[in-house]
Amino acid sequence: MKAQELRRVWTDFWVARQHTDVPTSGLIPLHPSAPMFTNSGMMPFVPYFIGEEQAPFRPPRATSVQTCVRAGGKHNDLDAIGRSLRHLSFFEMLGNFSFGDYFKADAIRWAWEFSTEVLGLDPERIWVTCHVDDDEAVALWVDEVGFPLERIQRLDKDNFWEMGDTGPCGPSSELFWDFGPEYGPEGGPANPASEERYVEFWNLVFQQYFRGADGVLRPLETKNIDTGAGLERILGVTIGSPDVFATDELRHLVSAAEQATGVRLGADPESDVALKLLADHARTMTFLVSDGVIPSNEDRGYVLRRIIRRAIRFAYLLGVEKPITPLMATETIELMAEAYPQLTANADTILGILGREEEQFRRTLRSGLSILDTALAGVPEGGELPGVVAFQLHDTYGFPLEVTTEIAEGRGFVVDRPGFDAAMADQRDRARKGGKKGGLTVGDEVDAFQAVLDERGTTEFVGREVFDIEATVLAVVPGTDGTVSVFLDRTPFYAESGGQVGDTGTITGPQGSGEVLDTLQALPGLHRHVVRLTDGLLAPGDLVQAAIDVDRRDAIRRNHTGTHLLHWALREVLGTHVKQQGSMVAPDRLRFDFSHYEAVTPEQIQAIEDLVNRDVLANTPVRHFETTKAEATELGAIAFFGEKYGEIVRVLEAGPHSTELCGGTHVRRTGDIGPVKIVSESSIGSNLRRLEAVTGTGPIDRLRKEEAELAAVADRIGVPQSELLDGIDKRLAELRDLRAEVKSLRSKLASGGASDLASAAVDGVVVARVDGLGRDDLRSLGVAVRDQPGIRGVVLIGAPDAGGVALVSATTADGGLDAGELISVAARTVGGGGGKHPELAVAGGKDASKIDEALDQARTAAGIA
Ligand code: ALA
Repeated sequence: MKAQELRRVWTDFWVARQHTDVPTSGLIPLHPSAPMFTNSGMMPFVPYFIGEEQAPFRPPRATSVQTCVRAGGKHNDLDAIGRSLRHLSFFEMLGNFSFGDYFKADAIRWAWEFSTEVLGLDPERIWVTCHVDDDEAVALWVDEVGFPLERIQRLDKDNFWEMGDTGPCGPSSELFWDFGPEYGPEGGPANPASEERYVEFWNLVFQQYFRGADGVLRPLETKNIDTGAGLERILGVTIGSPDVFATDELRHLVSAAEQATGVRLGADPESDVALKLLADHARTMTFLVSDGVIPSNEDRGYVLRRIIRRAIRFAYLLGVEKPITPLMATETIELMAEAYPQLTANADTILGILGREEEQFRRTLRSGLSILDTALAGVPEGGELPGVVAFQLHDTYGFPLEVTTEIAEGRGFVVDRPGFDAAMADQRDRARKGGKKGGLTVGDEVDAFQAVLDERGTTEFVGREVFDIEATVLAVVPGTDGTVSVFLDRTPFYAESGGQVGDTGTITGPQGSGEVLDTLQALPGLHRHVVRLTDGLLAPGDLVQAAIDVDRRDAIRRNHTGTHLLHWALREVLGTHVKQQGSMVAPDRLRFDFSHYEAVTPEQIQAIEDLVNRDVLANTPVRHFETTKAEATELGAIAFFGEKYGEIVRVLEAGPHSTELCGGTHVRRTGDIGPVKIVSESSIGSNLRRLEAVTGTGPIDRLRKEEAELAAVADRIGVPQSELLDGIDKRLAELRDLRAEVKSLRSKLASGGASDLASAAVDGVVVARVDGLGRDDLRSLGVAVRDQPGIRGVVLIGAPDAGGVALVSATTADGGLDAGELISVAARTVGGGGGKHPELAVAGGKDASKIDEALDQARTAAGIA
C-alpha cells in the first residue's frame, strides 16, 4: 500500500462510522497545556477531552491524519533517527477519537476490523498489550474479538500514555506486528530484546485522567478514546518491512538524498544513517517552516535550527558542498503537496528561509574549519586537541562538537572530551551565577491571591463599556514595596495581558483612597489593582468608586486597534510567514515583534503605513464580539500560539481586512485611531524584527518636534526654513572651498618656513624646534626643508597644539644619514618611539619638557653637536 491510498482508506473507514473528518491542525499546538510541537493526533482535541469545551461534532467523534513532530520535550525521538528502523522526527498519525461517546469496546472492535479486514493483516501475527490493571480491556479483546489470551501481554508504564508532563492521559492497549524471527528473538512485545521484531503500529488510549501541574491524576468527566497509528509504520507492515524508510514517500526522499550526496543506500552503515536522516529531517523542516516556525535561538525556532543544521552537517560530512536543504525541501513539497496543499502555497517562504539558514551555517562551518586547521597544526601528530579549543569552536563559532571530533579523528587526532565537558560546565556555572537574582519570595503573595480566587471567584471586567463604577473591595493584600494589592468584585480596570498594559486610575472609598499604579492579572481572571494609598485606607467590604484614567486608556485603545491594522498590513506587504511574536501596547506607543528574515525596506514601511492609514480613513466600525472558536476559525481570525483561548473567544474585526482573536480594549471606529506612523524598525534577534509606531496625537507630536528641530537648524545656519536645503548646500560648498584654501596656505607657509629653516643648516643638517604643528604638517615641513638646496638631513621636534611631542626626520638618499637613527634616541627621551625608515621617519612622544634635550641628542646623532 502507498501513503496516499492509506490516508484515503483510513478516512473512509471512520467517516462510514460517523466520525467527522478533521484536517490536520498543523504542528503548533494552541492549547496552553500543550508541549512545544503537536506530537500526536489528539493534541488539537485537548479542550474536548478535558471538558473545557464541547466537541462540536455530532455524534462527538472525529478522525484525522495529523502531522506530528517528536523533536523536543516528552516525546523526543531525534537521536534515534536513521539508527532505528521505525523512529521519525516528523510523521503522520492516523487517529480516531471519541469525546465521551463510544469507549473501549468499540475502539477495540473497530481497530481489529480495520487491521484484519481493510488492511488484510494476518491475525496470527498480531500481538496486543494492555495495562496491568486493565482487566476490562483484556476481557474485551478475548470476548469481543476472540483474540487469543496467550498473545496479550500486560505492561505498566508502556501501557499508560501521557501527552506531556501535564494534560490528559490514560491506560492504553497497543497493537503490534510480528515481523518474524529474522528481526529478533521470540517473547512478544514484552521482551525488550525484540523491539525490532514486534513493532507497535497502533495505540488505543482510553483517555480518562488529567495530570495536573502538581503531578496528581484526577479522573476526567467523560471517558474518551484517542487512538494513534503511525502512517509510516502501518505502510511498513503492509509492505512487510519494519523499516519505515522503505515505504513509498520516505523511500523517494532517501533516493533524493542519494542523488544529492552521490552516496548509495547500503554502501556503508554510517552513510545510511545520514541518508535516512536527510529524508526524515527534510519533512520536519519543510512542515515546520510551512507552519510558521522560523529558525532562531529560542524555543521552537531553536529546535528547527538544530534540525536544519544537523541535516547540513550530515550532508557536509558526506562531502556535499552545495546547499542541500532547499533541494530536499523541494522534493518534499512536490511529494506531499497532494495531501498538504499548503506546502505549495508556502513553497517560496520555505525555500527562502532554508536557503538563507543553510548559507549562514555553511559560512560557520567554513570559518570553524579554518580555526580548527590552525589549532590542529599546533598539536603533535596523533595528539589531542585541547577541550577548551573544541569548546571555543562550539561556543563562539557554533561549530558542533561532532564535526570537530569527526574531522580531528579523520586526521588521526583525538579530542579531549573531558576537557570539553569541563569547559561547558564552567560556562554553565558562570551563567547560573550571573543570572541569580537576589530578592523577594513571592510565594506568600501568590498564596494570598489564590485564596481570593478560591473564595470570591474571578473579577467581573466591565471596562469595555464603563470607565467609572461603584464596586466592593473583596480583599487587600499588602505588598513588599509599600503598595497594596486591591481586589474588587467588578472593575473597569483592564489587567495587563495580550501585550496591552494595565490601566491606571483611582479607587476612592469611605475610609480613604489610593492611586492605582498598575493593574495585573494576579491569576487568570483575577484583577489585581496595585495601589499606593494617598490617604486613609481601603478595607474589605468598602463600597468604593473605581475610576480609570480615561485619556490614557483612549490612547491605549488607539494603539491597540492600530496594532491589529499594522499586523494585517505587514502580512499583506511582507507575506503570511509574518507571525506575531510579541507586542506591547502602551499609551504613548505600540511595539510589534514579528518573524521575518530581513530588514523591512523604507518602501515596504511606506506601503504598510499607506495600507493602515487607508483603513483608518475608511472609518469603518470596529466589531468586537464573542463567539465560538469554530466560528472564529471560519471567519479566518488569526490566533496566536502562546495565548490562551477558551471555548468562547473574542474576535476583533477592525476595518474591512483585519480579523483576529483578541481580549484587549479597542476603539469603536477605525477613524478613532487617527494617523498611524511607524517610527522605527529593527532586528531583535535572528529572524525577528521589531516595529514601533505611534497613533492618534502621537504623529502630530512627532511632527511638531521635528518642525521645531528644523526651525532650530535653519536658525543656526542663518537661512529661512523654506531655503534650508539650498542653505545647507551653500554652507557645504563654502566649507569645501575653505578646506582647499587652508591646505594651500599651509603648504605655502611650510615652504616659506622651510627656506628659513634651511638657512640655519650646519654642515647640511637642520635640527630645529617647531611647535604648534601636528605630525602630518610637521612631516610636510620636514620634507620641504630636506628638499632645499644643500640640505642632506633635517630633524624637527616640537609640541603640537594637541599635546605630546612630534618628531620627524628626513634625509637625502646620498647624504650619508639615516633618518630613523637620527631620532631614535631623541624619541626615547621624550617618552615615545616611532618610525625607523632610513629616509623619512616620524615618531611621537609624551614629554614636551624634554624637547630641548632631545634636540641636542639629534645633533649628536647627526654629528653636528
Ligand atoms: N495519543 C496516542 C499516541 O500518540 C494515541 O500514541
